[in-house]
Amino acid sequence: MRTHYCGEVKAAQVGQTVTVAGWVHRRRDHGGVIFIDLRDREGLLQVVANPDATAVFAEAERVRSEYVLTVTGTVRRRPEGTVNPKLPSGEVELVASAMTVLNAAETPPFHHDEAASEDLRLRYRFLDLRREEMTARLRLRHRVTQAMRNFLDAAGFIDIETPMLTRTTPEGARDYIVPSRTHPGKFFALPQSPQLFKQLLMMSGFDRYYQIARCFRDEDLRADRQPEFTQLDIETSFMTEDEIMKVMEALVRDLFRTILGVELPDPLPRMTWAEAVERYGIDRPDLRIPLELVEVGDLMQGIEFKVFAEAAADPDARVAALKLPGGGALSRKEIDDYTAYVARYGAKGLAYIKVNDPAKGREGLQAPILKFMPDATLAGLLERLRPAAGDLIFFGADKRKVVNDSLAALRVKLGHDRGLVAEGWRPLWVVDFPGFEWDPQEKRWAALHHPFTAPKVASPEELEAAPGKALSRAYDMVLNGTEIGGGSIRIHTEAMQAAVFRVLGMPAEEAEGKFGFLLRAMRYGCPPHGGIAFGLDRLVMLMAGAQSIRDVIAFPKTQTASCLMTDAPGEVSAQQLKETGIRIRAAEAKS
Ligand code: AMO
Ligand code: AMP
Repeated sequence: MRTHYCGEVKAAQVGQTVTVAGWVHRRRDHGGVIFIDLRDREGLLQVVANPDATAVFAEAERVRSEYVLTVTGTVRRRPEGTVNPKLPSGEVELVASAMTVLNAAETPPFHHDEAASEDLRLRYRFLDLRREEMTARLRLRHRVTQAMRNFLDAAGFIDIETPMLTRTTPEGARDYIVPSRTHPGKFFALPQSPQLFKQLLMMSGFDRYYQIARCFRDEDLRADRQPEFTQLDIETSFMTEDEIMKVMEALVRDLFRTILGVELPDPLPRMTWAEAVERYGIDRPDLRIPLELVEVGDLMQGIEFKVFAEAAADPDARVAALKLPGGGALSRKEIDDYTAYVARYGAKGLAYIKVNDPAKGREGLQAPILKFMPDATLAGLLERLRPAAGDLIFFGADKRKVVNDSLAALRVKLGHDRGLVAEGWRPLWVVDFPGFEWDPQEKRWAALHHPFTAPKVASPEELEAAPGKALSRAYDMVLNGTEIGGGSIRIHTEAMQAAVFRVLGMPAEEAEGKFGFLLRAMRYGCPPHGGIAFGLDRLVMLMAGAQSIRDVIAFPKTQTASCLMTDAPGEVSAQQLKETGIRIRAAEAKS
C-alpha cells in the first residue's frame, strides 16, 4: 500500500512521488491550507492539503485525530523558516495529490502529549503503545532480546522451549494453577521458572541451553514485579561458577556496548553477601549512592541509652550508623518524616547526632541522646565516622533485619532526596549467600534460593549437621540497586538433593511426589551443572530509564494482578466449571 514509512521521507526524496500510510497525529486548519501530521512507527510527516486539489481537500476537511489514511503526493522542501529540526522528516513536507481515509476514529480518551492516569493508559493500552515513548521502549526490548540471541548463539547455546502446563517449580512464590478437564480434581501449575526442565536438559546432554521464558508467580507486586514476567533463562554443564559468571558478564557487557554504547567494568566487581548486608543493609546495593552503614555496636556496650545498649548486647541485633554529609541542614520536620519513613520497615525510632564541629568533641555535637553517651563512645564515633562540620549521623538499633531493612531503605531515600545518586551504571556480583534461613514463625529452615541450589559443603552429613552454616554456590547480578539476575551451581547427586529436602522439613514421600522425576533423573548420569536467569523486564526497564517494568511490557497487569484492558481474570461458564469438576462457593466468590 505504501512506498515509504512517514518517518523515512527526507530531503533525499525531494521531487519524488511517494505514498505513505498512518494515523492523523495532528490536523491544523490554516484557513485555506490544511496541514496533517501523519504518524507511523518511524515518525511523523507533514502532509499539505491545498484547496485547489478539491478531492484531497474535502477528505482533509473531515479527518480527525487518529483517523487512518493513505496519502500520495510529491515531496518538497519546506519553505524557509518552517523547517522542524526535531523531526527526522522536518526538512520536507508531502503535497498531497490523493488521500484516502481507510478508517475513521472516535475521539481518543487521551492524546499523545497528555499525561493520562496509568489506569486509563492500561485500559486503552493499544492507544498508549502508539506513543513514541512506549514504541521506543518496546523496540529497545526487541533489540535487547535480539542481541542476547546473537551472543548466545555464537557462544554455542541452544534455544529450547519448556512446558507451561506443568507441576510446581518452587521459586518462593505461590503457584498459578490451572484445572485439568481430562483429570477432574487435578491441576497443572504454571512454572515459576523453567528451573527443573533446564536441569533435566543438562541431564539429557544439551550442555548449553537458553530460553526467553515466561514465568508465573503469584506474589505481592511492586514496581519491579509482575505476576507473569520474562526471564533470559540459561543453564550449562561442566562449568564452574567462575566460568559461568565470566560468560554471563560478557553477555551483559555486550548488551550495554551494542545497545547503549556503554562500557561496563571487566571483570564486574564481586562482593560477598555478608559484606553487602553489613555495608548497605541489603543484598542488592545501589553503589551509585555514596552512603554506607557503619557498625557501632561495640561502642554502645553498657551505655546509659538502653535501646542502643540492649541491641549491642544481643547477637541477633545490630547498632549501625549512617552518616549524611551536609545533613546538619535537615529541618526538624524532615527528620520526623525520615523517622516515619523508617517506621514502615519496623524501626522504633531514628536517633541522630548533628555535627557542628568535630574537632570540639562533645561540645561540637548536638542531639537529645548525647547526654546518655559517655565521652569514649562519642570519641569512638568521631574516629570511626570521621564526620565533617555540618554532617548528620543517623542511628538504627534493633534486630538485625529491622536495622538492615530500615537503614537500607533510608540510604536509598536520602540518596534520591539529597541528589547524591551518581550518574552511570554500577553493576556487581553478590556471592556467598547463606543457603538457608531460619524461619522463626514456621520454626523451620527455608531456602534462600530455590531448593536445587548446591550448598558449599563437602557432604550431605556436613549440611544436615549445621544448615545455618552452609553458604550456597549462588550468585546474583545487581545493577544500580536492582537484582537483574540470579543463578547457582545445582545439586547433581540424589543424596545431596534428598538431604536438602530433609533440611527444609519436606517428608520423603512429599519430595518423591513433587520432584520424583528430578531425583530419578539424577540416578542416570547427571553432569555437574549450573546456570542463571536474568529478569528481562528489569534489565530493559533500567536500560530504558523507565520507572516500572510495566513500562517495558506491552500488556502488563496492575498492582492487583488484573488486566484492565481485557478485564482478566474473568468468570468462566457453568459448563467449564462442571467439566473441570470445580464448584465456586458463593460467599468466597465475592470477596
Ligand atoms: P530468580 O527467582 O532469582 O531465579 O529469578 C531470576 C530473575 O528474574 C527476575 N524476577 C522477576 N522479574 C519480574 N517480576 C517478578 N515477579 C520477578 N521475579 C524474579 C529477577 C531475578 O533476578 N530459576 C532461578 C534462576 C536460576 O537459578 O538459574 C530463578 O528463577 O531479575
Ligand atoms: P526516646 O528515648 O524513645 O525518646 O528516643 C530517643 C531518640 O532515639 C529518638 O530520636 C528516637 O527516634 C531514637 N530511637 C528510639 N528507638 C530507636 C531505635 N530502635 N533505633 C534508633 N533510634 C531509636
